Amino acid sequence: PKVTWILKDGRKITADVAVGHNLMEAAVANNVPNVIGECGGCLSCATCHVYVDAAWYEKAGHPDDMERDMLEITAAERKPNSRLSCQIKATDALDGIVLHVPEI
Ligand code: FES
Repeated sequence: PKVTWILKDGRKITADVAVGHNLMEAAVANNVPNVIGECGGCLSCATCHVYVDAAWYEKAGHPDDMERDMLEITAAERKPNSRLSCQIKATDALDGIVLHVPEI
């Protein structure tokens, strides 16, 4: 699926991501600034924080309890559409998904 990250300054980065890869790995592979993925995707750092575009939030699924706890410690403000992108897996249903990258 195609994934687009929109940076705070309006710049867009779009990449084709293999099904099954998580969107933190995809961001790091495509040099998306501010998505760091320090813990490698094991839900212990919150440095993969993104805001899922409103049109995509429901499709991306909801954070589970552990992710919700980790969302308490994001560097940037937590919003209703905040997700930890290591917990979103690329699927065909998410083709076209748009993620907004916070300023940190
Ligand atoms: Fe650490 Fe997502 S990469 S919580």
